[in-house]
Parts: sequence; C-alpha cells; structure tokens
Amino acid sequence: TTLHATPPAAAPAGPHAVSGDSALAAEAARRRTFAVISHPDAGKSTLTEALALHAHAIGEAGAVHGKGNRRGVVSDWMDMEKDRGISITSAVLQFAYDGTVVNLLDTPGHADFSEDTYRVLAAVDAAVMLVDAAKGIEPQTFKLFEVCRARGVPVITVVNKWDRPGLDALAIMDELSTRIDLHPMPLTWPVGVAGDFHGVLDCATGDFVQFTRTPGGATEALAKRMSAAEAERLLGSVWTDAVEEYDLLRSSGHDYDHELFLSGAASPVLFGSAVLNFGVRQLLDTLVTLAPAPGARPDQAGTPRPVTAPFSGFVFKIQAGMDRAHRDRLAFVRVCSGQFTRGMVVTHAQTGRPFATKYAQSVFGRDRSTLDEAFPGDVIGLVNANALRVGDTLFAEEKVAFPRIPLFAPEHFAVARAAVTGKQKQFRRGIEQLGEEGVVQVLTSDRRGAQAPVLAAVGPMQFDVAKHRMEHEFGAPIRLETLGYSVARAVPAAVTSIVDSRPGAEALVREDGMHVAVFADKWRLASVEKDLPPGSLTPIFG
Ligand code: G4P
Repeated sequence: TTLHATPPAAAPAGPHAVSGDSALAAEAARRRTFAVISHPDAGKSTLTEALALHAHAIGEAGAVHGKGNRRGVVSDWMDMEKDRGISITSAVLQFAYDGTVVNLLDTPGHADFSEDTYRVLAAVDAAVMLVDAAKGIEPQTFKLFEVCRARGVPVITVVNKWDRPGLDALAIMDELSTRIDLHPMPLTWPVGVAGDFHGVLDCATGDFVQFTRTPGGATEALAKRMSAAEAERLLGSVWTDAVEEYDLLRSSGHDYDHELFLSGAASPVLFGSAVLNFGVRQLLDTLVTLAPAPGARPDQAGTPRPVTAPFSGFVFKIQAGMDRAHRDRLAFVRVCSGQFTRGMVVTHAQTGRPFATKYAQSVFGRDRSTLDEAFPGDVIGLVNANALRVGDTLFAEEKVAFPRIPLFAPEHFAVARAAVTGKQKQFRRGIEQLGEEGVVQVLTSDRRGAQAPVLAAVGPMQFDVAKHRMEHEFGAPIRLETLGYSVARAVPAAVTSIVDSRPGAEALVREDGMHVAVFADKWRLASVEKDLPPGSLTPIFG
C-alpha cells in the first residue's frame, strides 16, 4: 500500500503567490503541527494510522507503519528497522481535515532514540500524549512529557485502549495531577469501565456519543449522538455512573480553560480506542479547534519573528540514506515564517551562504514527492543538504537565526576505531557526518587522538545504527569498545586536567567545543566534584 497525503483542502494545486500579510497569516492560521508522544506500545502507530484514515489521507489502516504482521512499511526505511520492527527515523504526515492542514510529525517509538523525539518536539506547536488505560503514566511518557514542559509545548492527553480492562478513569486523572503535575480537563468522559466501552459523555454538551464497532475496526467507527435522557434509557446505571464520576471530578474544578492549556499547566483529556477508531474524530476536532496554530517564533536574541515575515525555518532533523537508489542527505526544515516556494534561494544563517532549493520535497516516510510551496508549520525536505546541520536556520530577505536545539546528556559511551586499515579517510568522514546528523554525539580528546573518537549516545541502539551505517554507507566498518561511563556534565576548560587525573573520570570535547566530563557513576562524579571549584559541573541539558 502506498500512502498519499491529500493536498490541503482549500489550496489550489501548484504554487500560488500568496500576496499580502493577511493571506499569509490565514495560511498559517489553518495549520496544526504536532507530534504524538507515548511510551512504546501505548498505540502511537495505531493512532497515527487512525488519524490519517479519518482525514482520508489513506484508504485503509495499516499503511503507515509496518509493524509485526502489519507490514505496510512506509516510514520504516532501513533494513535494521525492518529486522527489528521498530521505527528509528521520523517521517512527516500531512493531511487535510475540515479546512485545516494537519502536519503530524512522527517520532520513533523506541526509548533509545528519544533524542530524535526531542528534536521533533522542538519543531511542533502541540503534542498528543497517549496514555495506555491499563498502565497509566509510564517512564517514557514521563520523560517526554518533561521535555514538552521544558519547551512550553501544550499537551492534549488521550487515554487509549479503553476497550480493554484497565485502570479507573478517576485514578488516571489522579495520576496526571499527582505524578506529572498536569491538571486534567476532560473533554470527553468514558461511558462504561475500561473493557466495556460504550461511548463517551461529551463534557461540553452533556450528550452521549455512542461508538459502534465496525468489522475489523479498519474503517471509521460509527458515532451516534443522543441526549442524556436517551442515554439513560438505553444504558441505565452505566450512563448514570459515568455522569456521577464526571460530576465528582468537575466539583473540584476541571472545566476546560484555554489559557491553562496553552501555558502547559493543564491538558484537555479524551478517551478512546485507537484500534477500534473510537474517539479519533474527537481528537481531530480538538486539534483543529484548540491546538495552537504556528505563532511568532523567538530568534536567538529572543525577538519573535512573525509568521508574516519573509521565509524562515530551521533544521530539526538530518537523515541520510532514505532513498536506497541515491544515498543522499535530507534535511527536514520546519517553516517558521513566510511562504516557501521551491526554487527560491535562501540564506544559510550559520555560513551566510546561499542555499538553492530546487529539490525541495515533501517527505512522507520513504515516499517523497516534489513540493512546490509551504507555509508556517509545514515541514520541507531539502535534498543534498550537506552544509546543513541540526539546529541551523535558513531565511530569505530578512536575516534571522533561531536558537539551537539543545543536545541531551549522553549515558552510553564507546570508543570507535576503523576495523579495516587504510579506510581512515572514510572513517573520519563517516564519523563526522554521523555527528552532524545527531545519530550519535562525537567526543574527542588529544589523549585519544582523531583515530579513536568517543561516540556518546542517549540509548545504546544508536551505536547499532552508527555501526551499520559506517559499514554500509561509508564503507568503513568500525569496532566499538564500550567505556564504563554513565554520567556526563559540562565542565570549564580550566579544570579538565583535574578531571583527567582521577580514576573513573575523563574530560572530552564535543564537536561544538563544549568540554564534557564523563564519570563511571554518580559516586565518582561526587568525589571529583568535591575537588573542583564550586559550580564547575553543570548538567548538559536543562
Ligand atoms: P506504539 O506505536 O506506541 O509502540 O504502539 P502500537 O500502535 O504498535 O500498538 C501496540 C499494540 O497495542 C498493538 O498490538 C496494537 O494493536 C495495540 N493497540 C493499539 N491501540 C489499541 C487500542 O485502542 N486497544 C487495544 N485493545 N489495543 C490497541 P500488538 O499485538 O502488539 O501488535 P499487532 O501486531 O497486533 O499490531
């Protein structure tokens, strides 16, 4: 099955000059750019398919991700991904819904690639947090949510898998408030306990929305709206229990508050079942009506660049080898302001050099098609983007540079060496590129030398990707020797010799010039820290 994103509803095919600030503002206003975050297995792939299905971007569920026996394989592109049935790299899904252009930025499910997810979260205006009804808040949900909070990304919560036995709805609301300090504001409330899902109470109107299964769940579920009185006649205590529960929650102040949502302090909550397509339309409606449209993005100096300013965008992801036929390098750019038209020459803020965009593409898993225009909130793929790095800015006319995307503190370290002598050149080029793409962080020191850089990762599977690509893409197979470090801190250059003199500790330099001290464990860290001037060691990402 091949996926095709439908063209935006109201936009004519081909480029059209949008003239005037108000037309540009209108294009931005009808965009919603978001990502789904969840702990693995909460149903992210299933929900992504269901959303696309409802928006009629695809005809049948199962085409977005190839997982297990649902092998549609659009966003999985590497052999390794296929072998493991996991999605390592992110794709972008664009579809039209109700006059709105929805950009869904996919994120890898596996925790080892969470750094990739963090970068995607820098490029969205909202996130949908999926919670498994039987498991509540899980470790990865927690971690990703913290990133949303740090970045000020508003979160919509979806309690998924309500068709299966699970926790009590009020208990899940309690977890949201107590464990992650996120005030829940249900928009729907489940009718029937988890495992006995009849539909939802529409909190705004008090109506009952009844869901009916369709065979296989592969097409849109039927939803019938009826009054509370009708619902009570139909369901008796199942309905009155739901109303009572919701009233209980409401009495302690859980009505929807838009400002609280936008500030990230509170989250609208929906209940559903992605696999049965229950509640998916409510989620789309919520995205369209409540999620913020692209707004003015602050530049490095903190000055917001309005969406109506000339074109600007930043690279949030670099990906190589997507297209087996040509092993090229693709930069994913989130448009922040202005209209992008293919062929326009833009400036690369970091080098001041012009960058031609003749080969701009829309990126959709492995499928790509030529892209002619894009507006704030959209994502464009730039081919042969060898000069671009993650975090770089591109602009037209009026100069701007957006803040860099923070790198995360690595927890795994390994020395890389060329496994085949005589491949030093390929080795160096490959390692450098993997560093620039953010596949791994590359740390070096005079002591270790250029032939033995230290690769650093948030999750160990990043090393497998590095190894695979060094061999298959750069023709320079590597040997990796794991180092027994687990903690990293930024450190001033002046005290690195003290760090280096201690057992279980080492000072290295990151490619951006930051000095990094690595330690075997937090006890070694504490013991070295005692001998350094106060405040020398600082966390790498706040
Ligand atoms: P992920 O991307 O977050 O890792 O999760 P994914 O969508 O792959 O879903 C994980 C498992 O949970 C899948 O089952 C999927 O069918 C199931 N699932 C997703 N949403 C729901 C839901 O609303 N209700 C129920 N009951 N199950 C749901 P699996 O057996 O692991 O994989 P599969 O081979 O059946 O697809």
